[in-house]
Amino acid sequence: MNQIRHIMAKVLESGPAKERCSTCHRLVLHAPDIASRARPGQFVHCVPGFMKEDIPLLRRPLSISGVSANSPSTTPDNLEFILRLMGTGTRLLARHKPGQLIDCLGPLGNGFTLVEDKTALLIAGGMGVAPLRWLAMELAAKGGRVYLLAGAKSNEEFPCKVELQDGRARIPELEAVGVDTEFVSEEDGLLATDLLKRRLPELAATGRPIQAYAVGPRAMLKALAAIMPKDVSCEVSLEERMACGVGACRSCVVALRHPDPPGYVYRRVCKDGPVFDLFDIVWAKESDID
Ligand SMILES: Cc1cc2nc3c(=O)[nH]c(=O)nc-3n(C[C@H](O)[C@H](O)[C@H](O)COP(=O)(O)OP(=O)(O)OC[C@H]3O[C@@H](n4cnc5c(N)ncnc54)[C@H](O)[C@@H]3O)c2cc1C
Ligand code: FES
Repeated sequence: MNQIRHIMAKVLESGPAKERCSTCHRLVLHAPDIASRARPGQFVHCVPGFMKEDIPLLRRPLSISGVSANSPSTTPDNLEFILRLMGTGTRLLARHKPGQLIDCLGPLGNGFTLVEDKTALLIAGGMGVAPLRWLAMELAAKGGRVYLLAGAKSNEEFPCKVELQDGRARIPELEAVGVDTEFVSEEDGLLATDLLKRRLPELAATGRPIQAYAVGPRAMLKALAAIMPKDVSCEVSLEERMACGVGACRSCVVALRHPDPPGYVYRRVCKDGPVFDLFDIVWAKESDID
């Protein structure tokens, strides 16, 4: 069955992602056809303009950062997104007011594997928290032990509210659903990978296997490949510039290792990903690959 839906979704909420944040925007859309089929790690491809002359040629991919139901007994009706206001597309999307419609294609991509019998360790760099927020909520709702370590350039640039609790900067929204969170900013000289180096030995010492998930800038994911022990399974979500979003144009390929015969294989981020195994990704520049 084709799971992808093409719909006009009504904007329910549109505003700053948190108080005093001018760079991140929160958008909630009424989209039951997509929300009821989606899972964490998937994304929606959105037409950014709402007036004909505004519409840039290409859709913009946005990770689903949460879903909600209009009544407790129903399947999800609404999609939540967090946008970093980068350029034309994201700024046009953020201009939409409640009641206006956005042309959406989704859910797209493969999504994360939801593992329940392991400690879940989520590592978010900046806007990488968008898809991990929903993943953390889903894993915590299933009763798992969930840790989310987040870093950003500054608190102001991080889209979630952060509060000091017990000497640690935490994300109250996720703490409230049972996720153990910690946030650091580059202004304090710390990165999410520094938190990981500190917390990994402590979590490994419990003897419980760890399933890691990471989303963030390429440099963070590349650093992670050097830090993460090879016996820890780690899924990462990649971002590439996209055109079609459905696997047809091959504009979004990344190189992955191919064990047999040894070499490289190209995979589409939009269709085969965006979630891949951390240790499969080739971090060299494309020009370095034979
Ligand atoms: C699978 C996927 C999920 C995404 N989820 C989110 C999300 O939840 N929230 C969010 O804010 N953004 C997300 N993005 C990125 C978002 O789609 C881009 O930021 C957006 O396309 C930029 O569009 P724009 O028109 O605002 O900027 P443009 O005017 O197109 O570009 C502005 C600047 O941003 C750079 N840029 C554009 N796209 C990307 C990109 N994909 N990665 C790095 N730099 C880029 C350009 O090179 C340029 O310097 C996601 C991207 C992918 C591939
Ligand atoms: S964007 Fe067209 S194949 Fe991925």
